[in-house]
Amino acid sequence: MPVTPAFDAKVHKARRDEVLRRMREMAPTGAVAVFPGMPVATRNSDVEHPYRADSDLFFLTGFEEPEAVAVLSTQGEKPFTLFVRPRDKEREIWNGRRAGVEGAVKSFGADQAFEVGKLDEELPKLIGAARTLFYRFGGDDPDFDSRLGRMLRSLRMRARAGIDAPTRIEDPGQIVHELRLRKEPLEIDTLRKAVELTRRGHVAAMKTGRPGTNEYELHAVLEREFRHGGGRGWGYYPIVAAGENATVLHYNDNRAPVREGELVLIDAGAEADLYTADVTRTWPASGKFSPSQRACYQLVLDAADACIAATRPGETIEGLHDKAVRILTEGMVKLGLLRGDVDALIKDNAFRRYYMHRTSHWLGLDVHDVGNYRTPDGQPRPLEPGMVFTIEPGLYIASDDDQAPPELRGIGIRIEDDILVTAQGHDNLTRDIPRTVADVEAATSYRP
Ligand code: GLY
Ligand code: MN
Ligand code: MN
Repeated sequence: MPVTPAFDAKVHKARRDEVLRRMREMAPTGAVAVFPGMPVATRNSDVEHPYRADSDLFFLTGFEEPEAVAVLSTQGEKPFTLFVRPRDKEREIWNGRRAGVEGAVKSFGADQAFEVGKLDEELPKLIGAARTLFYRFGGDDPDFDSRLGRMLRSLRMRARAGIDAPTRIEDPGQIVHELRLRKEPLEIDTLRKAVELTRRGHVAAMKTGRPGTNEYELHAVLEREFRHGGGRGWGYYPIVAAGENATVLHYNDNRAPVREGELVLIDAGAEADLYTADVTRTWPASGKFSPSQRACYQLVLDAADACIAATRPGETIEGLHDKAVRILTEGMVKLGLLRGDVDALIKDNAFRRYYMHRTSHWLGLDVHDVGNYRTPDGQPRPLEPGMVFTIEPGLYIASDDDQAPPELRGIGIRIEDDILVTAQGHDNLTRDIPRTVADVEAATSYRP
């Protein structure tokens, strides 16, 4: 399955036009918005982490080179300015092609482009012309925050010379993150590609896993499938956890052996054109759940299914979480993990001993994608068609939990699906990745 490049100049231009329209609405006296790139991160010594563009910048421009800064302005004839690395024959021989200022205009639709070395000279001119600055202070690049702060300071110091500085600062997330939250058809297609690669990875891992394999082999199988079909790899570092490792929520050593009778929990999602899936499956290494494992698994599955069935426009993520908590708490009592009245156990947060995370988050370019979870007046936000989010109930029983029945200790289970809200209700994008007891057992290939 070829994964087509995400970049389509028209798509990004339409998004910028919409952002500019909303900026004009919020700031009729003139506004400029600044979107810096993600800084390059050193891994060790001369080695960098693979570069991955900032999601807002990518969403608005499709530009993926490091050091870029995009500026949108509601004033003048040049609404879209892009600062980029200059063409450099020597550097390009070592590190690959650059678009340069010419490419920024020709291929990426910038109305004007500057070399990023001119930022301190050119950006204050753009900012100083506007009453409102849209910039997300406290983002991923504190150095850029300081740099912009210095620019504002020097603009203010020149007030006597008739130079202006913006008087109002707004978070552009109010506009861009709202757009990112409601997915366009192209974005949903891309998420489906990420999901398909993710399906292949999880199914291949289920087939490979057996007593005597190692978490790292399953990790390798996932990565092969994520890249082999044209994806970019994972959208977040995979969790491959056998046995009691599955009770550690952010386990990612991925180095331990898989033993007879253990469950394997894999939380891994492929990234296609910068959109990521986020899927967890839990399955028995020996091909069959033990009765205790099966009871726990069915409980988590029941919670997941109830939440998915309830998903429709108007429902809320908060409401779904409450539903999952109730089902899981009732199950914890039946399994002998908790004792007492279900309502009281929920009220006292007793369930958190075994279910300590939330049930859902938005999904898209970022695994924990942007978008408010509450309305402006603080209410849980109603779901709308086009929103994509996860449903991921779980049950985690620490191996040293002496309150738990001994046969349940060390069991960790999560089932995580990616759900698109539709006008009619929902579409579980990840339904084809085995998830029922029967389908999961059938997908494992080890038979003792
Ligand atoms: N994989 C991260 C999460 O499930 O939220
Ligand atoms: Mn998740
Ligand atoms: Mn996950």
